[in-house]
Amino acid sequence: MRRKIVAGNWKMNKTLIQGLQLADEILSASTSAEVLKIIAPPFTHLSAIAEKIKSRTDFAVAAQDCHHLQNGAYTGEVSAEMVASTGANYVIIGHSERRLYANETNDILIQKLNRALSARLIPIFCIGESIDERNAKTHLEAIRAQLKDGLFHLSSPDFGKTIIAYEPVWAIGTGVTATSYQAQGVHDFIRTEINKKYGKEISDNISILYGGSCNAQNAKELFACADIDGGLIGGASLKSADFSAITNSF
Ligand code: 13P
Repeated sequence: MRRKIVAGNWKMNKTLIQGLQLADEILSASTSAEVLKIIAPPFTHLSAIAEKIKSRTDFAVAAQDCHHLQNGAYTGEVSAEMVASTGANYVIIGHSERRLYANETNDILIQKLNRALSARLIPIFCIGESIDERNAKTHLEAIRAQLKDGLFHLSSPDFGKTIIAYEPVWAIGTGVTATSYQAQGVHDFIRTEINKKYGKEISDNISILYGGSCNAQNAKELFACADIDGGLIGGASLKSADFSAITNSF
């Protein structure tokens, strides 16, 4: 049985006080005990939110990134070990905004994944095609390449721990959600690629989340798809009522 997961990626939003208030609201509004809720606030909020959720087995905390090296003279950076020391158990790796704005390459992402796993963090690895790839109908090749070049170096035990988020770049923050048909098509493709590389047991058990303008209105239809195990939510995770409604959409 795959775990149902809804993760909220707050991106660069909310001061510490605002973030703690939002976390409180989400904690009291979320009644879906069988759904794992992962809160991914900015680094500065990790410890305080990890402390808040620690008695709830249906909640966890994620960082939005970690550095690819272990430690050293890298001013302003945060290592995987530091993230783990806050009480966070997850880390988002390879978000398209980081691939784009921080020039993260597959080579860097491979190192980040390895660092995260060594620090016992569970990676939430993001993949997704651009609008040009979708229009040219080369999106499945793009997804295959992202899996092969960023993720498929992992051993079976390490791969089995990860979560994958399919986030078509054209759907992120645009209000244009992939249809459930489009999303299910890619999720099925991802699971098939995983099956070919790692076998049925791992492909059957890995959670694949959808992200990209997922909200309280469209989550139910998306989450009803056979290969969609939940969502990675941006904008709609910043309002407790919306986020809680999404967690109740299975
Ligand atoms: P939106 O839900 O705002 O489209 O963002 C999705 C996302 O990038 C989550 O990581």
